[in-house]
Amino acid sequence: MLIIPKRISLANIPTPIQKISFEGKSFYLKRDDFTGMETSGNKIRKLEYLLYQAKKEKTDYVFTCGGEQSNHARATAFAAASLGIKSKLFLWGKNSSSADGNLFLDKVLGCEFRFLSKNEFGNANAIMAEEKISLEKKGKKVFLIPEGGSSPLGIWGYIHAIEEMQNQNIFKHCNSILTASGSGGTTAGLLVGSLLFKQNLKIFVVNVLYPKDEIKNKILFLAEQAIKDFRLQIKLDEKRLEILDGYSKEGYKHISDDKLSLIKKFARHTGIILDPAYTGKAFKAYHDNFLSGKTSKTLFVHTGGLYGVFSKRKKYLLNSGEIK
Ligand SMILES: Cc1ncc(COP(=O)(O)O)c(C=O)c1O
Repeated sequence: MLIIPKRISLANIPTPIQKISFEGKSFYLKRDDFTGMETSGNKIRKLEYLLYQAKKEKTDYVFTCGGEQSNHARATAFAAASLGIKSKLFLWGKNSSSADGNLFLDKVLGCEFRFLSKNEFGNANAIMAEEKISLEKKGKKVFLIPEGGSSPLGIWGYIHAIEEMQNQNIFKHCNSILTASGSGGTTAGLLVGSLLFKQNLKIFVVNVLYPKDEIKNKILFLAEQAIKDFRLQIKLDEKRLEILDGYSKEGYKHISDDKLSLIKKFARHTGIILDPAYTGKAFKAYHDNFLSGKTSKTLFVHTGGLYGVFSKRKKYLLNSGEIK
């Protein structure tokens, strides 16, 4: 029989779906940037499932990993703090006394850190597991959360989001969804959810962190694992998934000038800000491929990332000549 995991309520959901007009065209936007403030964006949906489990296991610490401006790491640390759990973050990048954005907030919260090189980050799960063992020898319980909260349990956040969107009746207007993909869990959840709730949806993904084949494999692996672990009576259909490659040529931690111009134009016309690592890149792909004269049938999911904007404040301003 199908197993539905339990979750703890952390996110402000359901998030609204808005009809947006931009450049004389219109489309639907799922405001998952509204899931919370300190815990904003897509990851809090996954954390509802992961932290339920952590709490059940009476953990003292959660360990998780990501880039130094990881939205996921910041959201994890704030959500864990709200449950009385400490966090240690394993971050790819450098410590800085003038930290901005997410890293600044992690510091305000008093998180513990270990900074990793890009190579070490490839082994982040093993590094966290090693430290878990040494802390457990001191009598502390540690709960590990992988990059982006993307585990078969974590992806339930977006399986559940499909049910939420179905209840919002959006699939009467949209036959596909587009989102940014980092660790792949959000997409894997959308894919599994659309099959589980019998919605004939195509899921378009903009890969910002991993190459096309690697992210495709990660997404399909996560989806397969969840189907197996939770005994879901569905069969994966790869054709439901399409990766829109080539929108992160400047690299995960950077943002190109043409994308920044679009981000600023969009903000000035709609009052909605997009971030440099994920949603700004995804929106460029959306703008190039799905905005035409008619209302788009592809739903754009705004997955948050606001604090990442501040780490790029000079770049956001310099390109339009506001500061010299
Ligand atoms: C703002 C934002 N959008 C999208 C994503 C991608 O989500 P996933 O890692 O589940 O692919 C992330 C990842 O952390 C994110 O922070």
